[in-house]
This record gives sequence, C-alpha cells and structure tokens, in this order.
Amino acid sequence: MRALSFRLIACLPAMLLFVPLLSAQSKSKPVDAEGHQWWQHAVFQEIYPRSYMDSNNDGIGDLNGIASKMDYLKWLGVDVIWIAPCFPSPQVDFGYDVSDYENIDPMYGTLADFDRMQKIGKQNGVGIVFDFVVNHTSDKHKWFIESAASKTGPYADWYVWKDGKGANQPPNNWQSTFGGSAWQFVGTRGQYYYHYFYPQQPDLNWRNSKVAAAMYGSTVFWYKRGVVGFRLDAVDTLFEDPNLTDNPIQPGKNEYGDPNMFPKYNDKLPEVHDVMKGLRNAANPYNAVLIGETWTSNVAELKDYYGKKHDELQMPMDLMFTELKPLKADIFRKHIAAVYSSGEWPVWVMSNHDIKRAYSRFADGKHDDNIAKVMAAMYLLLRGTPIMYYGEEIGMQNNDPTRKEDVKDPIGQLGWPEQKGRDGERTPMQWNDTPNAGFTKGIPWLPVPASYQTHNVASEKADPNSVLNFYKNLLAMRHSDPALLDGDYVAVNESDANVYSYLRRYKNRAVLVVLNMSESSQTVSVDLSAQGFGAMQAKTLLTTAKAGDTQALDGISLAPYTVYVGEVTK
Ligand code: NOJ
Ligand code: CA
Repeated sequence: MRALSFRLIACLPAMLLFVPLLSAQSKSKPVDAEGHQWWQHAVFQEIYPRSYMDSNNDGIGDLNGIASKMDYLKWLGVDVIWIAPCFPSPQVDFGYDVSDYENIDPMYGTLADFDRMQKIGKQNGVGIVFDFVVNHTSDKHKWFIESAASKTGPYADWYVWKDGKGANQPPNNWQSTFGGSAWQFVGTRGQYYYHYFYPQQPDLNWRNSKVAAAMYGSTVFWYKRGVVGFRLDAVDTLFEDPNLTDNPIQPGKNEYGDPNMFPKYNDKLPEVHDVMKGLRNAANPYNAVLIGETWTSNVAELKDYYGKKHDELQMPMDLMFTELKPLKADIFRKHIAAVYSSGEWPVWVMSNHDIKRAYSRFADGKHDDNIAKVMAAMYLLLRGTPIMYYGEEIGMQNNDPTRKEDVKDPIGQLGWPEQKGRDGERTPMQWNDTPNAGFTKGIPWLPVPASYQTHNVASEKADPNSVLNFYKNLLAMRHSDPALLDGDYVAVNESDANVYSYLRRYKNRAVLVVLNMSESSQTVSVDLSAQGFGAMQAKTLLTTAKAGDTQALDGISLAPYTVYVGEVTK
C-alpha cells in the first residue's frame, strides 16, 4: 500500500501492531490499534503552485520548484501536500479553469516533471494530493468547444444549456457567485450556458453519465501516476434544479452590486452525494483520500458529506472554522464541541488561497507572533486531521493590493474596492531575506510583503523562538505522541472566558493544552480528577509561557497569548 511508505507510519509506537479493528470508513488497512487510516495520522499542507518556488526564474512557481523543497516539507513535518490546480489552463481563475484534466500546464512543467516531483516526494515521505475541479471546465476545454459548436454533436449535452425566457432574457434569475448573471448566451446554439463562477468556467452537466465516467476516469489517471488523493473543488454546486426555479431574493446588494440571493435551487442539491460516492468508488482501489471544499452552514450539513455509510468524502473540510471570530476562547470552544458532537473525524483548516491569512485575521499589532502560536497549538493538537496553508508556519501576512491597477484576481477588479480579490493571500513563499524572499530571481507574479525580511524560512530556522520552530515542534509532537494521535478530546475549565483548555486522553496518560486567548495575563487552575487524572502536576512538553520542566496545575501563569502543553499521567 502506497501510504505505508509515509514517514508517519515509521513513528508509530510498537503497541500499534495489535490486530486492528477495521473502521467503518474504509476497508483498507488501518495504521493503528484504533483502526485509523493513513490520512488520519497525516499532516496536510496546501501549496499554491504559482507561489511556492520558481525554478526557472519566470516569476511563477513550478513543479520543479516544489520538488526542490521536499526536504523542507519533510523537515517541517508535512506528510501530504495538496497542490492547487496545475493542469493546462487559460488561467482566468489561476488554474481553476481546466482545459485538460490529464496533463500539466507548461508554465508549471511537464508530466515528466510531475513524475520526478512525485518520486522525490515519496523519498521524503511527502504524498501528493491534486486538486480536481469537478463543477466546471474552462471554456477552452475541447468538450466545451464542441458543446458550444452544435446542439447535436457528441458533446452537446456535456454542459448546462437552456433556452432563454425570451429575447435577451436569461433562463432564470440565478447569479454567478463571481458577479452578474450565471447565464451566458452563445449564438451558434441560440442558447445560454450556465456558469456558477466566471463565464470562462462553464458548469459540467453531471446528469449526463458520460460526463461522470470521463471525470471519474481522470481521477484514476492520476492515481495510477501516484497521487494519493484529491481535493475536490466546489462540490456544493454540482447540480441545479432541473425546473430552473428562481432563487429567492434577499434585502440588500452584494459586493458586485447584484441583489443578495439565497442559492436555494443551485447549491447543495441532494444529487451531489451520488457524485461523491462515484468519486469514492474510483478512489477506493488506490486507498486514496478525498478532501472536500465543503462550504457548509452547519455541522449537520458537514456530516452529510461523509456519507451515511461513510462512503463519500473521508475529509470534508470544516470551512466554518475559517469564519470564527473574534479570537475568544468561548467561540472556538463552542464550535469545536459542535463539530465533535457529529461523531465524525474533523478536518481542521485555518486558511487557504481564497481566505485572508489567519495570521492577518487575528493579529493585534502587539502580539502577532504569539497569537499565531496560540492558534497553531489550538488546532494542530486537536483530534482530527489538519490542513495547513503554505507560509502559515512562518507567520506569513496577507499582502493586499492597494491600487486597483495592481489587482490580478478578476473578482478584485470587478468588486474593487469592497472586494479586493484574493491576491493578498497568494503571495510568494518567503524562503530567505534576499530580494523577492528567495522565491525567484525574476519578477514575481505578485509582490512579497516587507515582512519577508523577518518572517522567512532561513531566518526563522535559526531562531529557536520563531513561529517556524514552534510549528515544527508541534508537528513533531503530533506525529509521535499516542495521546495526540489517538486520544479523545475533553474540554476542561469550560467556563473560563479567556483561557481555552483541553485534554487529549489515551489510556493512562493525557496531553493537557492550555491557551491564553486574551490580551491580559491569566492564572488558571486545572483539576483533572473528574477526567480520571488525579495528579496535580504536569510534565511540560511545549510552552511559550514561563514554566519549568514540571508545572503545578493549581496555578499555571500565562502571559497574554501564551501556550502551555504538558503531560499528565494517572
Ligand atoms: C474554489 C477555489 O478554491 C477558488 O479559488 C475558485 O475560484 C473556485 N472554487 C472556482 O473554481
Ligand atoms: Ca517558473
């Protein structure tokens, strides 16, 4: 099994060799006595390929650049990278407009470069997850070009084509989430096609079984080439109401000046689950993992994506987690409790290429690095699988454009100044303090923020108190500590509004995590007798507070935004 070559397997303690219980989630071989699958012990990181490392100095990152950093990823403790789309694409939506699902865009390299990167990744214990754009293709995909050309050709029914309501009248009131009508007229067919995103991203017709077969086949193409899974783009919007019922209009206007609308008839239709099952069937023979871009509004919706028989996505992302604010113990404690109440294996995500970086969301201008460490300890020690965002581990900031003419992301052009687009969270990785942060010797496609001089891999590697070394230490603990790999989660001191504390219990020991999420000093007492741990002392494992090797639990002193992690035994 491919996944067994991952470094994390080597870290498992000998006791995990016990005959495992098979979990209901998959019939593949578990990696521990609790029945966990390989992806449950792995740490994932999203890499935006345009911005990670530029090997040929054209200002755009590429696959050879990623390959050259596999040793860094191994050093950091990343087991799997999810690479945002690097398939051939006109790049209207920076790769989320795919014109060929079974090749690599020349700007990123070749299939041979992919094979090389995959091999180097494997040697370093880093698996590759690709990004599958399920909902739509590019309008330059050969399927769409043929589909637009004729109402009777072999691809005529591969996209969502409808007649208008009348002259110059689209079929209904649905809006694109990127602004304007979701319908585009094409003279050759005398019909409109539907696009939930840009007009250059026509939605596939998933009611056509030929579409499904072709798409499932493309995932298999990559499994055979060595990818260990897919992140599935925009799965919520795969289906539309066949009756084309108008969506309800709500008060006010959005950032593009369109009326607010509730996407009742073109979002999260029940048929989506059939496609999730189809993709899972294709993934199962390869023991591959499916991660979902699942924008749910509550935990019940998120639970649905695992499948009633655990036959859909193993890792639907909890993107509600990215929307929690402000930074308050109660807010995080409450949401985390709600997620665990579903009984599923959570997928924790703080940032991605569509969301302002967590570092910038929570910074207060005084304790920025300490806040980044609190947030890292908060989510990287939870039960569940984390997906980090590249650069998060060095405390990368957003670098939002300040002038409309600098904006690269089309939604930033359309919605300026209310919507500045997503350039700010997609800037080049900061490798060192040389010009352009060592990302390229050319002109980078997006500018690096001035903070690269202090927040970069080389400088932070040399500083034991850096955000980077804190992440590295957290991930090392996560990979080796049985309580963090397999322990349950119990919130403690739940009425404390400033300090969020929890236990990860496994057998006769537990890891205690105490996080001062406030701007004032706090002293907390933790009594764990109700949780089965009577000792009043912890052995310190990792801290940014002033604590000795052992710490009395009846008086843990925490400066503003500090972390205490200790071990307690029965
Ligand atoms: C979600 C992707 O993360 C985003 O970047 C993209 O614009 C849309 N899906 C459309 O593919
Ligand atoms: Ca390049």
